[in-house]
Amino acid sequence: MSLFRGKNVLIGISASIAAYKSVFLVREFIKLGASVRVIMTPESHNFVTPLTLSTLSNNPVLTSLVKEEDEHMWNNHVELGRWADFMVIAPATSKTISKMASGECDNLLLTTYMSAKCPVYFAPAMDLDMLKHASTQQNINTLKILGNTYIPVQEGQLASGLFGKGRMAEPHDIVDFIHADFLKKMPLYKKQILVTAGPTYEPIDSVRFFGNYSSGKMGYAIAKEAADQGANVVLVSGPTHQTISHANVQVINVTTSDDMFQACIEHFDSMDVTIMSAAVADYKPTTFQKGKIKKTESNVSLTLEKTKDILHHLGQLKTKQILVGFALEVDNEIANAKQKIKNKQLDFIVLNSLNDKGAGFKTDTNKISIIDNDNKLHNFELKSKQDVAKDIINHLTHYLNGI
Ligand code: CTP
Repeated sequence: MSLFRGKNVLIGISASIAAYKSVFLVREFIKLGASVRVIMTPESHNFVTPLTLSTLSNNPVLTSLVKEEDEHMWNNHVELGRWADFMVIAPATSKTISKMASGECDNLLLTTYMSAKCPVYFAPAMDLDMLKHASTQQNINTLKILGNTYIPVQEGQLASGLFGKGRMAEPHDIVDFIHADFLKKMPLYKKQILVTAGPTYEPIDSVRFFGNYSSGKMGYAIAKEAADQGANVVLVSGPTHQTISHANVQVINVTTSDDMFQACIEHFDSMDVTIMSAAVADYKPTTFQKGKIKKTESNVSLTLEKTKDILHHLGQLKTKQILVGFALEVDNEIANAKQKIKNKQLDFIVLNSLNDKGAGFKTDTNKISIIDNDNKLHNFELKSKQDVAKDIINHLTHYLNGI
């Protein structure tokens, strides 16, 4: 899924021949699912028409400080600045850069820039000597110091006929640059996270299994939230009806606790974090009967043996990895969960109590407490599993940052 889907992007265009490229920039963001609004400086109309840009952005293009249709009404630059998730000034001419640096706001683009609360990117376009000029360099530097992000110029043929640095970055490079910048700023950027989800099925014969009611909803929500926060997620999933499609999530489908064990062991070493939210069966039938066990007049009994405790094994293998477990308890909840932190060498545990209405398996909601390995207890309200996943991932982020 595109990072820009549903984002509000404000594109500011100042007067440079490179303004024609902004047409493609608008189109790229629209294609990626963003909402785009365009502000132009009055002089930029000489290079590209507002009609082209309003058609592509599906929004009126704004230029004047007062409304074109009613000069007694103003174009609300404060509202525009607040609407945007980020602003891209492309092309940013040396004049616009200079005014941004000095805080001079004599047009709608500049007043909006001054009111914007969101991240601002600027992609300069100018002749190579103008770019090299000490005052331009000083202004660019000032903008960076003020917290704006510079999108590097590219080298090539310039409008003056000269060859060198000063071309505005190509639209797809601007999009890639902002995309990479967004990723870098995500709390779990470059973190490798293993998440397990769902039940395991332990076969009795070819048509029957020993299992549990876990829906996998909690684990899938955690995987999605971690991926949305920039992590690369390996999701080891038992049999569920859940689906996930996310560029940062690799799904490994397994059936039995032995399969899940293998998949976890295989990936554990390269992980920064493992979140074991699967409801792994604690027991499996000692024997497997190929075919179907036939019904007879007498009762049958099933002998069960213990499965491998995956989390316990990972606790033994752990070197630097953060290990997060789940505990589903019926009584002595907190004491039992604390014992699991010790036995399984966890960093923290997510506790569900079967006594809480709306918590645990099958539901769309959950009520959790998180207990850290220093016994600190954090209680949360009953929430949707998506919101619970957010709480767990936020807790993880704080834990990783030592907060
Ligand atoms: N777990 C595991 N392997 C198992 C059983 C459990 O990795 N064979 C993990 C679960 O994914 C969970 C944690 O261990 O993160 C605790 O699971 P839980 O069922 O609450 O505890 P158990 O250790 O199985 O003990 P009990 O069922 O007696 O409470």
